[in-house]
Amino acid sequence: MTETELYSVYKGVNLPTRTHTPESLRYYEEFFSHSDDIVIVTYPKSGTTWMQVIVPLIQSGGDLTTIQTLPTWDRAPRLEVYKTPFLNLEDRPSPRLFVTHYHYSMMPPSFLKVKPKVVYVMRNPKDMFTSSFHFYGMTSYLVKSGTQTQSLMEKVAGRVIYGSWFDHVKGWLNVKNKENSMYISYEEMIMDLKDAVARIAQFMEKPLNSEVIQKIADQCIFMNMKKNKTSNYSLVSREFMDQTKSEFLRKGIAGDWKNLLTVAEAEYFDNFYKEEIKNVQYKFAWD
Ligand code: A3P
Repeated sequence: MTETELYSVYKGVNLPTRTHTPESLRYYEEFFSHSDDIVIVTYPKSGTTWMQVIVPLIQSGGDLTTIQTLPTWDRAPRLEVYKTPFLNLEDRPSPRLFVTHYHYSMMPPSFLKVKPKVVYVMRNPKDMFTSSFHFYGMTSYLVKSGTQTQSLMEKVAGRVIYGSWFDHVKGWLNVKNKENSMYISYEEMIMDLKDAVARIAQFMEKPLNSEVIQKIADQCIFMNMKKNKTSNYSLVSREFMDQTKSEFLRKGIAGDWKNLLTVAEAEYFDNFYKEEIKNVQYKFAWD
């Protein structure tokens, strides 16, 4: 199916119509933020699901109940999607935990006014592309790409769900008042998960001892998440996501782009990347 059939343009970016209803978009637009809410922000395929285990475990002080009983989308709901208006988030105890893939420029008025805590997770865009390439192929609600090169060009041009990765990252890095924001990359989490958990806990003002931090890191390693049905998306119907084509928790490594992109594709991307990020001051972990 085509872009027109599967996507709607909202605030300038393509969103999958099936998972983003007019009701859920309106709900988010009018959503009332609390200053102690914690919002995980990611561009898709950058480590969202991983953070949806780490942050709840920090919040619970290492208690496993929520990650064993609540699926990802209920444990840390994504504010813009169709299920969310039915979760009675207004009644949840503070601090509430949410997720969004929105660009900073798309954030609703209450968020901008209240400025809740933000954990922004980034990933090497070539690995994000690789993960997306497999993901688009296994879902029924996203446009199937033509060739791999075409798919890369569409991604670079932002003609994909949630628009341009470059705009997303630059928008969130350019937030003026950064004391409520934490920036972390997928690669830092791969390199030293225990250290990443400790830093996130500190940001969340949730002091944890070294054993609890180790316990959380152990729970969040790829193989353990893969076994957990509340995190591995096996609860989603095959009609929606066909994991026989590609698993949701697919490889969980940094650098997998080397197994997918040709030399010419990587060069094409790198040239575009250099130009786009030339004025960005942030030191990315993958550069
Ligand atoms: P791959 O497709 O490269 O394996 P998102 O949750 O934002 O959609 O991102 C999904 C990507 O994060 C997938 O990447 C998935 O395997 C990876 N991921 C999820 N949990 C992980 C973990 N515990 N360790 C490493 N990677 C993880």
